[in-house]
Amino acid sequence: MASGKHFKYVVLGGGVSGGYAAREFAKQGVQPGELAIISKEAVRNSPFPPLPSVAPYERPALSKAYLFPQNPARLPGFHVCVGSGGERLLPEWYSEKGIELILSTEIVKADLASKTLTSAAGATFTYEILLIATGSSVIKLSDFGTQGADSNNILYLREIDDADNLYAAIQAKKGGKAVVVGGGYIGLELSAVLKMNDLDVTMVFPEPWCMPRLFTAEIAAFYESYYTNKGVKIVKGTVAIGFDADANGDVTAVKLKDGSVLEADIVVVGVGGRPLTTLFKGQVAEEKGGIKTDAFFETSVPGVYAVGDVATFPMKIYNDERRVEHVDHSRKSAEQAVKAIKGKEAGSAVEEYDYLPYFYSRSFDLSWQFYGDNVGDAILFGDADPSSAKPKFGSYWVKDGKCVGAFLEGGSPDENTAITKLARAQPPATSPDELKAAGLQFASKI
Ligand code: FDA
Ligand code: NAD
Repeated sequence: MASGKHFKYVVLGGGVSGGYAAREFAKQGVQPGELAIISKEAVRNSPFPPLPSVAPYERPALSKAYLFPQNPARLPGFHVCVGSGGERLLPEWYSEKGIELILSTEIVKADLASKTLTSAAGATFTYEILLIATGSSVIKLSDFGTQGADSNNILYLREIDDADNLYAAIQAKKGGKAVVVGGGYIGLELSAVLKMNDLDVTMVFPEPWCMPRLFTAEIAAFYESYYTNKGVKIVKGTVAIGFDADANGDVTAVKLKDGSVLEADIVVVGVGGRPLTTLFKGQVAEEKGGIKTDAFFETSVPGVYAVGDVATFPMKIYNDERRVEHVDHSRKSAEQAVKAIKGKEAGSAVEEYDYLPYFYSRSFDLSWQFYGDNVGDAILFGDADPSSAKPKFGSYWVKDGKCVGAFLEGGSPDENTAITKLARAQPPATSPDELKAAGLQFASKI
């Protein structure tokens, strides 16, 4: 066997799931030296006091407060687990617990048969139990061979290094033009934050409305009007097919399929993520683009678990299997896997994962939450006027006579709790007209 370090438990990936897994291991009890977290994430170009490496943090901050023009959030402020109201785990916390953080270390080979991971520098790590928490990587326009996609200032956002590059570009191009490619989560959150930084922002996406994987046309109409009122320009139904650059290689324009050309000093691309499963190809069962797990996040290989963005797990409430790329699930799946690992050792039973999908976003003064499933007929309720002083509206989704999903913009904590309960309970729905008229009252009665 290759020489190297051995751990009882290895978590591969020090993102959100990795951090929440560490906390759960500490809660359940690990001996010093038993657990290591190996992660490639590093800081290279920070314009701030440089951190040599990055302990697990709450990734959602990167597309929001990290890029604010005033008082931007910075580490160590948003290490896990502050995003869910928990203790902030600073690097010292891991050393106090005897948990080894092996950072700035990319694993380039995983051999599940010999239980060995090999780093880019040639170091080997063996384990008894492996938790795969590698998350996703961004899909790049250069992956599709888009002409000029390698020009300078065409930026993506996944890791803290990307956010530092973006922050530096925003400072360098103050008052300039930004084009945001993609109309999903990154597209909407980044368009807002770039506008807050006084850039002239144009959003481009191929679909007829933004965030089509969740929003109905009516929900999207609210956000598009709100953004337009804030000065964000929106170009729909077309894609970027190429980029122009100057002699320095800096992007100057985005060429669209519809023939138009948008000037650009910065381009931010958010055209989706791809779960990082490549290391395990052919070694473990896959499903729906992710690593297939059971309700305890154990994969087809005993002793190997997969959590967060990479896991395709049984969604008990809907009796199907899904992969979820959102932070709430990344936290909860990590906790569930560690409980299952420790439960197995102790011979104690752990309940099956019974997840209720929960997604949210924040931009400008807006904040929405969604729970459940967005299938069936959607019924909009409330004040969806984008020029209202405090718009508050929502949508229910009704399928087979049951209310299965709920969306709410501008809800109070109590109102958000009410729609959570509703999505879990799936109560019989009244007529669309009655639901529309009852609005939040319908959820509040559950
Ligand atoms: P995550 O990506 O957090 O961590 C994976 C870690 O593994 C990374 O540190 C990576 O470097 C490391 N890694 C990967 N391969 C490796 C290798 N071969 N060797 C070593 N290390 C390796 N969700 C939400 O619900 N609300 C929100 O507001 C947001 N906002 C948001 C903003 C931005 C900018 C992004 C990119 C994503 C979000 N999300 C979100 C999604 C959410 O952050 C995401 O679902 C979780 O971070 C997933 O957690 P994981 O631990 O699975 O991956
Ligand atoms: P996404 O899947 O939300 O949106 C991608 C968008 O790009 C879609 O509208 C898609 O149709 C569009 N698109 C695809 N190809 C295109 C092309 N060639 N040109 C223009 N548009 C194109 O993905 P994302 O916004 O890139 O987010 C990446 C990951 O980060 C996802 O996992 C997402 O869940 C996560 N994230 C989540 C949040 C949140 O939950 N609030 C916030 C930020 C990021």
